[in-house]
Amino acid sequence: MANQVKSEKDYSQYFQPPSLTDAKKRGKEEIAVHYDFMIPEDMQGFGNDKFYMIRTYGCQMNEHDTEVMKGLFEQMGYQATEDKEQADVILLNTCAIRENAEDKVFGELGHLKGLKAQKPGLILGVCGCMSQEEAVVNRIMQKHAFVDLIFGTHNIHRLPALLKDAAFNKEMVIEVWSKEGDIIENLPKKREGIRAWVNIMYGCDKFCTYCIVPYTRGKERSRRPQDVLAEVRELARQGFQEITLLGQNVNAYGKDFDDIDYKFGDLMDDIRKIDVPRIRFTTSHPRDFDDHLIEVLAKRGNLVEHIHLPVQSGSSEVLKKMSRKYNREHYLELVGKIKSAIPDVVLTTDIIVGFPGETDEQFEDTLSLVREVGYDMAFTFIYSPREGTPAAEMEDNVPMEVKKTRLYRLNEALNEYSKASNERLNGQIVEVLVEGESKNNPDVLSGRTRTNKLIHFTASKDLIGKMAYVKVTHAQTWVLKGEIVPEPLQMSM
Ligand code: 5AD
Ligand code: SF4
Repeated sequence: MANQVKSEKDYSQYFQPPSLTDAKKRGKEEIAVHYDFMIPEDMQGFGNDKFYMIRTYGCQMNEHDTEVMKGLFEQMGYQATEDKEQADVILLNTCAIRENAEDKVFGELGHLKGLKAQKPGLILGVCGCMSQEEAVVNRIMQKHAFVDLIFGTHNIHRLPALLKDAAFNKEMVIEVWSKEGDIIENLPKKREGIRAWVNIMYGCDKFCTYCIVPYTRGKERSRRPQDVLAEVRELARQGFQEITLLGQNVNAYGKDFDDIDYKFGDLMDDIRKIDVPRIRFTTSHPRDFDDHLIEVLAKRGNLVEHIHLPVQSGSSEVLKKMSRKYNREHYLELVGKIKSAIPDVVLTTDIIVGFPGETDEQFEDTLSLVREVGYDMAFTFIYSPREGTPAAEMEDNVPMEVKKTRLYRLNEALNEYSKASNERLNGQIVEVLVEGESKNNPDVLSGRTRTNKLIHFTASKDLIGKMAYVKVTHAQTWVLKGEIVPEPLQMSM
């Protein structure tokens, strides 16, 4: 019963343990695409007068999965709430990329234990990447037995049925599929604001040695071009101003099609013709970034001149141990090609410091690469061992203090380049998509340039959700300041 305290648990009925070993097996079996999703009849209206709350951790893929789950909840009649006390269902959509992401979730579960004791009818669920790890599922079963529901990344569409099981059964409901599922096309999505995410592919086959994603998200599966294009056209019709195409490795788009020759460059070339002011994509793998894609991006229009191109390390030896399948020279050659096709391109990246065995010299190679490329921004991380990945088995003789110093030095260098690159914009007029009031001052508006730089300026609130033109007057490391100007006759961007 929904409001019965869960006691004596018998997990066997539901437990299909996720297995990292099984997840590694890449089968040849076809991935089917389904267009006939419906909320099961007995769950329609199940959420009437009830509230749901989803807390999302991690990347944009997770944010977008949350939009899908919100869509499912609302089709069942649930309403959204941000108030834990009001919620009838709370889901934690989790991230497994580094240990600190997981610690946050376990911390939150600790806080929610009291709420669950006060309100036994509350359904508390854990989903997302952590649910795909067997060690996490075991830990929740042993130490957080008050959790009602665990489901993984491949069966989000099963949420209505799983909720029903969780509401009517005493035992913890666990449904995690080790192998990826099919592509379900017509799931509802609850999007807000003027920017939208669109999945173009799921999963990753790269198996970088430090990374858990190929295990938690399964093998690469591309959505059919006509389905992606139809979704982008519909979002354009609804007035969205910016679309970000999502995939763990968008450059591998289309490699899994055996009936058509249609890759990421072809997709971008078709999306370019759709009337949406800005198209972005994330995230790229340098290995699959081909010349055709560069040629298409150089056509600009709604394809913005910002590329996030994770490098991870500037040392060819470390890149080899990471199994990134390119070396420093290949990466720099690719950057050279991109810069000659799009001279004002803004490049950003991801970097890991303190990979097992990284020497001072190898770290210096990263610093020199950062200088050579001239990134405008980077996400930087200390290596975090992930159980089940090859790097977790490698000997790591780099003390944590050394890793922290490297991270600090890297960030200092990046901040310097970021400020210098922002200063070059002083006096220029930039196109800004106005997002809303600035966080710290409601009299100031906040927006983003085509290159995704944050800019603050004073203007009428009527501009929120629209494009504006702003002259940069002051450049800081993380934010530009400027003043509104009339639309120039010719924009150089
Ligand atoms: N430790 C630290 N950083 C990691 N990333 C992925 N796995 C790990 C790990 N085990 C970083 C990479 C990736 C970004 C999303 O997270 O830089 O590009
Ligand atoms: Fe992880 Fe590498 Fe795949 Fe990116 S490309 S998701 S870092 S395995």
